[in-house]
Amino acid sequence: MPEVLNLKSKIENALPAELASLMKAAGKLACEQGQGLYLVGGVVRDLMLGQKNFDLDLVVEGDAIRLAEKLSKIKKGKLSIYPHFGTAKLEWKEWSVDLATARSETYAKPGALPSTKPSTLAQDLSRRDFTINTMAIHLDPSRFGELIDLHSGRDDLENKIIRVLHERSFIDDATRIWRGIRYEKRLDFRLEENTLKLLKQDISMLDTISGDRIRYELECVFKEESPEKALRRAEELGVLAKLHPALRATSWLAQKFKVARKFSHPDLPSFELYLAILTYPLNSKEKEELISYLNLPKPIAKTLRDSTNIKSELVALAKAELKPSRIYRILHGYAPAAVQANLLGSDSQLAGENIQLFLNKLRYLKPVLSGKDLIRTGIPSGPRIKEILEQLLEAKLDGKVTTRKDEEDLVKR
Ligand code: CTP
Repeated sequence: MPEVLNLKSKIENALPAELASLMKAAGKLACEQGQGLYLVGGVVRDLMLGQKNFDLDLVVEGDAIRLAEKLSKIKKGKLSIYPHFGTAKLEWKEWSVDLATARSETYAKPGALPSTKPSTLAQDLSRRDFTINTMAIHLDPSRFGELIDLHSGRDDLENKIIRVLHERSFIDDATRIWRGIRYEKRLDFRLEENTLKLLKQDISMLDTISGDRIRYELECVFKEESPEKALRRAEELGVLAKLHPALRATSWLAQKFKVARKFSHPDLPSFELYLAILTYPLNSKEKEELISYLNLPKPIAKTLRDSTNIKSELVALAKAELKPSRIYRILHGYAPAAVQANLLGSDSQLAGENIQLFLNKLRYLKPVLSGKDLIRTGIPSGPRIKEILEQLLEAKLDGKVTTRKDEEDLVKR
């Protein structure tokens, strides 16, 4: 019998005290109810790897909702329950814990969301994507911290390997193709030989996945530390072309992503900024195809379209001594992410400087006087007010007025 690994001290040291004590309380409660309770999935993998992860996923052999209700009495927070799925979420302060009733899944057809029925932990784990995600930890007080490793996840973790559990894994759920690529690059692991063969063989199964689900996978890619690595690998494997055949993960892209991260620091670049950069080289028709495939929300679709429109103005923006009001007129009204994408994408230093001036200063300028102030001076309300405000803005942009008094004098004139 292999030695049982106990992760109790890892739980106590790696998780914030509040989460570790909640795990103990939950294990005790479940035990009193005669139900098995386990910590599962990504957090177990990351505990073993010594990587920070506070997204706790618990599996209950029994009734997760009833347990969550009891737990919410100990730890007062927001409880959301999803009876249809037998799951619940408990949130308090900055923490959240997901509880799920152990379930087995059947896939009516490839790519569809699975139908589920209550089951055991073992069955719940055997429906999962990769061996490194199938480890679980006992939370029962008598076995607290004991590792359950039914699919040799620990060996694969040690050998830095991403391995599916069975031959049909990518057929059942082709989003795992993107997941596998993400894990490989995030953890610096490698897809095991047979897994890689299956992945390549099942790439066409991505056609069974809805645009919304593919978009979610892309969102996950963009939340990685270096999305360009996953995109490069996706290109190499023919997966990026499934998003759109015109997309490329070049060194140009990698460099632009890095600059985008510098811009956005300490936050990560937004989904729309990364996407605007990724699609920067695409023409209008290609972008429309991607917008429709990914069912992109209207504001993000607008960003991609704006980006194309701004690109066609780059020649106009690449002029020396362009009046600030002219720069403003060209760029005003476009999504900021589209403007930023052009700042990154443009080869012209002059255009870049003008765009930067807009982003850092011009877009925030407004006249001091408001429409109401103008009416108070006796100007009748109507289209004339708008015209005067526009003239004031123009004067302000071009540095002809700075103070309230300057503006009042200009209005008088
Ligand atoms: N899972 C799966 N197939 C999928 C999506 C998820 O088998 N298409 C399983 C995985 O075993 C995963 C668990 O569901 O561990 C939870 O999914 P998720 O929260 O997306 O993954 P994490 O393991 O928490 O990984 P990450 O660090 O990327 O969040």
